[in-house]
Amino acid sequence: MIYTVTLNPSLDYVIRVEDFETGKVNRSLEEHIFYGGKGINVSAVLAHLGLESCALGFAAGFTGEEIIRGIAAMGLRAELIRVEKGMSRINVKLKSDQETEINGTGPVIGEKDLERLFEKLGKLTDGDVLVLSGSVPPSAGPSVYRQILQQVSGRHVLTVVDAEGELLLGTLPFHPFLIKPNVKELEGIFGSPLKENGQIVDCARKLQEMGAEHVLVSMAGDGALLLTKEGDCYEQKAARGQVKNSVGAGDSMVAGFLAGYLERRDYQYALKLGCACGGATAFSDGLGTGDEIWKVLGRL
Ligand SMILES: Nc1ncnc2c1ncn2[C@@H]1O[C@H](COP(=O)(O)OP(=O)(O)OP(=O)(O)O)[C@@H](O)[C@H]1O
Ligand SMILES: [Mg+2]
Repeated sequence: MIYTVTLNPSLDYVIRVEDFETGKVNRSLEEHIFYGGKGINVSAVLAHLGLESCALGFAAGFTGEEIIRGIAAMGLRAELIRVEKGMSRINVKLKSDQETEINGTGPVIGEKDLERLFEKLGKLTDGDVLVLSGSVPPSAGPSVYRQILQQVSGRHVLTVVDAEGELLLGTLPFHPFLIKPNVKELEGIFGSPLKENGQIVDCARKLQEMGAEHVLVSMAGDGALLLTKEGDCYEQKAARGQVKNSVGAGDSMVAGFLAGYLERRDYQYALKLGCACGGATAFSDGLGTGDEIWKVLGRL
């Protein structure tokens, strides 16, 4: 089974306002609610590719109940742990001439809550896949991904980490199977601007020396690079198309790469399917659907 982890899922409240002004009453032209969270996005795109997964994480309050309901309505299997204090966040995405976002904090994750998550993770067995995506609530602490990888490290679980900074670096000694930084995240880690592919590959190599197996670097409209644990480097150009909303492109890429790899154990194909999924999401309002993904794959 593939397990995705979203420690701080959200309701994303997307509103479009014409000529938004602060300090005034603004009226929205349209409103949408999406069930957000990077791991949940990965689960959704895996489902679009025909792969079952189970979304793990935390939910609290009435917003948490709605997230649980909404994910089930999407047809996704999930086991979100109910937390007593606080409520799952509502992230406001305001689209006007500019895009403004206000992301909430989320519930307080206590020791007991974390223990319950670790109990669930204790049931993972050889051959399972575990995907850790996105930021974590402050109460879970910056070493939570590291602790999770440490806990599963004795088993043959394929682990994927898509996170930034310390959260990612802390997991490297436990040899994640795949990490997927984007260029900005690499620049954040190494502290200098990266202009050429050669520099990006050098950074990917350093992350391997620190413990990562495969490093997949996503470069938005410039495609992606994969440095395999064997030391081979693969490149894939991005698909061309009209970009509508690229939020979730990275999560889609993680799902596509995993699906491609699990199906064929072929790096080039996995990279291609990853780019097709990322592209399909960038070219649509929500996450790329199965039909959209296969169409984009045909163009690559
Ligand atoms: N504008 C685009 N045109 C074509 N393909 C795109 C575009 N944006 C993203 N993609 C595809 O999706 C992949 C992942 O995108 P990106 O590098 O933006 O991920 P990310 O920064 O991790 O995104 P997020 O974290 O918001 O999900 C890219 O490697 C590319 O294949
Ligand atoms: Mg990302």
